[in-house]
Formats: sequence, structure tokens, C-alpha cells
Amino acid sequence: MLPTITWDDDKVILIDQRVLPADEVYLECLDYLQVAEAIEDMAIRGAPAIGVAAAYGVALGVLEVEESDDLAQKLDHILTRLGDTRPTARNLFWALERMKKIFDNNKHLALTELKQRLVQEAKNIDNEDVETNKKIGFWGRELIQDGQNILTHCNAGALATAGYGTALGVIRAASEQGKKIRVVVDETRPFLQGARLTCWELDREAIPVILITDNMAGYLMKKGQISAVITGADRIAQNGDTANKIGTYSVAVLAHENGLPFYVAAPLSTIDFSLTDGDAIPIEERDPEEVKYIGGQCITVPDIEVYNPAFDVTPAKYIAAIITEKGVANPPFGQNLASFKE
Ligand code: MRU
Repeated sequence: MLPTITWDDDKVILIDQRVLPADEVYLECLDYLQVAEAIEDMAIRGAPAIGVAAAYGVALGVLEVEESDDLAQKLDHILTRLGDTRPTARNLFWALERMKKIFDNNKHLALTELKQRLVQEAKNIDNEDVETNKKIGFWGRELIQDGQNILTHCNAGALATAGYGTALGVIRAASEQGKKIRVVVDETRPFLQGARLTCWELDREAIPVILITDNMAGYLMKKGQISAVITGADRIAQNGDTANKIGTYSVAVLAHENGLPFYVAAPLSTIDFSLTDGDAIPIEERDPEEVKYIGGQCITVPDIEVYNPAFDVTPAKYIAAIITEKGVANPPFGQNLASFKE
């Protein structure tokens, strides 16, 4: 399985997703500030993977603490720095909340013991994510039929998680059942997660792939060349409104117009039950340079104004089902997702 992120001898090692597929480079993070930078700069990305990285970041931060330090204050700095990295991914905050809870429940312990508990919790978050994704795959594979062409947007694969993937986990699980599937991959401007990461992952596993640019999806759908769409999610509101990579909304509307099912695959840790609908989901805006440059080459007038929102929100009405580790939720999502709540 792809080594997205690992804890190794009090270091965090992650595959640098900025340079894939040209280079397979591993980045070593020795402290929590390096982890925060890796998340911010998208060396590691994808909501569940960001959550795992943040948990390991907290563990690294607490390992630095000495007996004479103000432990609670130090933890506060660590949580704030890591929480400031990427605002949309719910899993980031979910993981930080989990780490904080372990701290609160164990702060009476000796410092060495407390450190061990936090390292262990981060490892648990990492290991559980893979298991969760396999369950998502198990439930979701029944929605995919032999011979289908499945369109996906961005990368919701092993690289975006601790392993196996969410949307790509469903595709993997269906393919492991012997179903012959072809995955149509949107290139996903501007960061090219589809072209660079999804194509790389699927190609390594010999799952047939065809790459298209983002503006080709409607044409293919209208010609009957797409059977269904499946994507991951960064944050899902109580009613099923789903934030995912910019461009997902357009794909969902196109799927609706063409009578195709649009599925979201995500762990329950992506659901923000505190939000009634998607309007309150914070949408990250990223550096305009990401739009202006491709592979170091400026593709526009250098000082042109650019807008670069990283995510959009797909209204629940366009979503046929949300596949979680507890099963497949159908509309109405408010009621059906709530029944999966831990
Ligand atoms: O900006 P990114 O690359 O972190 O965005 C990733 C996505 O939008 C994914 O689809 C989402 O996080 C789900 S990953 C299992």
C-alpha cells in the first residue's frame, strides 16, 4: 500500500505530493511547525490525510515539552498553529479535537506517560483511517456495476488518506471484486490532483484510467460515456451539502442534468454535525500563483488579478448517496446521516 504518511522514530515521514508523479520524494518532519508547513503547502493534502498529519503534529509538538514548560499553554500554541493551516477540511479539526481530549483526560499523568498516550492516539487515528476506508469501499462497491465508466474529481485516494482512499477506495473495492471499471479522471485545475495523483495511483494498480481536462466532463456525459460520478469530501453539513475540491459542484450539476448518479464517499469524521447546511462551510482561498503558474511556467499576464477558491459546496439535492464506514446514506441526509452518528 502507498506510504502516504508514517511515524518513524519520533519523526513524521510523508510522500511529497507537490512533486508527484515526476519525483517520489519523502519529506521528514522533525517538529510540529514543519508538519504545519507541509499541510499548508500541500506536501500532504486530502482531508483525512491532513487529519492524520495534524494528529502526528500534535504528538511531535508535545514530545518537545519539558518538565519546566507550561504544558497547557504549549498545547494551545500547537493546536492553534495546526488548526490555522487549512480551514475547510473537517478532519483536521476532528483530529485536533481527538488529541485535545486525550490530553485533557490524561494530563494528571507523568509527562513521559502523557507523551506516549498522545503518540499512541495519533497512531490510532492513522490506523483507523485505513480500516474506515476499507469499510467505505465495502459498502460503496455495490453501487458500481461491471463495465461502468466512473468519473472522479481531484484525488480521494490512498494519497488523500492514511491509505486505500475514500472515492478511490470504492473503486478499488469494486475492482477487487473483479468488476471491470474505467475511471475517467478530471485533471483538477489548478493543483492537478487528478492528473498528477489520481492517475498515478490508479496506473500503479493497473486500474484503467482516462484523463480529461475539467471542461470535458459534460461532453462525455452527454455522449453516454460516463455511468456515475464519485468524489470525496472535505466537509459535509448535517443536511448533506458537501464541500469538495473546486469544480465538484459543476460536475454534480452536469451529472444531474444528464441523469447520472453523483456519489460522495467520506468517513463520518468529515461530517460537521454543527452546521445545518453548507452555507457556513469555510472555503479556503489559496495563493493566486497556483492559478498563474503550471510547472513553474507562467501561463498568463504575470500581474493579472486571480481568484483561487480551493473548494465549492455541492447542494445535497444533487447527491444520490453518501457512502460512509457505517453504510450508504440516501436522502434525506439530515435524518439518515444522523442515524450513523457515533
Ligand atoms: O486541496 P486538497 O487537495 O486537500 O483537496 C482534496 C479534496 O478535495 C478531496 O477530494 C477531499 O479532501 C477528500 S480526500 C479523501
